[in-house]
Amino acid sequence: MAYETIIVEVEDHVATIKLNRPDAMNALNSQLLRELASALAEADGNDRVRCIILTGSAKAFAAGADIKEMSEKTFVEMFLSDFFGPESLAITKTRKPIIAAVAGYALGGGCELAMMCDFIIAADTAKFGQPEINLGVLAGIGGTQRLTRFVGKSKSMDMHLTGRFMDAEEAERSGLVSRVVPAKSLMEEATAAAEKIAEKSMLTTMAVKEAVNRAYETTMSEGILFERRLFHAMFATEDQKEGMAAFLEKRATQFRDK
Ligand code: HXC
Repeated sequence: MAYETIIVEVEDHVATIKLNRPDAMNALNSQLLRELASALAEADGNDRVRCIILTGSAKAFAAGADIKEMSEKTFVEMFLSDFFGPESLAITKTRKPIIAAVAGYALGGGCELAMMCDFIIAADTAKFGQPEINLGVLAGIGGTQRLTRFVGKSKSMDMHLTGRFMDAEEAERSGLVSRVVPAKSLMEEATAAAEKIAEKSMLTTMAVKEAVNRAYETTMSEGILFERRLFHAMFATEDQKEGMAAFLEKRATQFRDK
């Protein structure tokens, strides 16, 4: 499908989706989020794709929701269209792993979008923030909930109430990002991680994603039971037999997603 606000490339088993509104610091408008949701659904349905990378430019992953698009909207319009609700829900429904490769600004909806991905690799130039308070609004696609779970209440309150930005080092220290890499090697590192994931059985990568995400949705005992049942279920797959046989025979695995 042809997109105007994103660029999609599939190489080997990795789909890279690049947010592409350079004149607006990749601000998220309705078209971009619709296109992104559609590209993710396409990648999910493409048997060749085994991992997805979501990235922006060197300057900005995304500087938030598009303020020009929103500024004149009324409550009734926002409510009736459930502004960005369906699009963000669609993004979080992606079953294949998504790595956010973030350089430059990830602000407001941009930070929220990065947090919807499965993990974040940050360039040392990355800056995260929830500055919506400066506009007389607050986060609207999960920021108050997700950031709080990632970094804890105190830092989340600080970020949302002051609107200050967090650099990559602070983001790593506080658990928002999984690793920080030099800006020039961001895509190389993200691609290497995606290729590593692509080598696994898709059955297990999807199961891992479901199980880890459960940690945010349910109680500890329910989450542990869910994990244990998924673990048991893996014994119904050929890939479990293959993975364990390959270990015992000291050879490389040949997973077949079966
Ligand atoms: C629309 C934006 C934009 C945004 C930047 N631009 N952010 N346009 N929406 N969120 C545009 C600018 O208007 C400008 O366009 C161009 O991008 C370059 O930006 P500058 O401000 O000139 O660049 P710079 O001085 O380097 O500052 C970069 C910046 C700043 C720090 C990222 O642009 C900024 O503070 N942006 C807004 C960040 C923000 O408040 N985000 C939260 C949005 S609300 P022109 O045409 O003038 O060249 C949100 C709610 C989410 O995200 C919930 C949704 C449901």
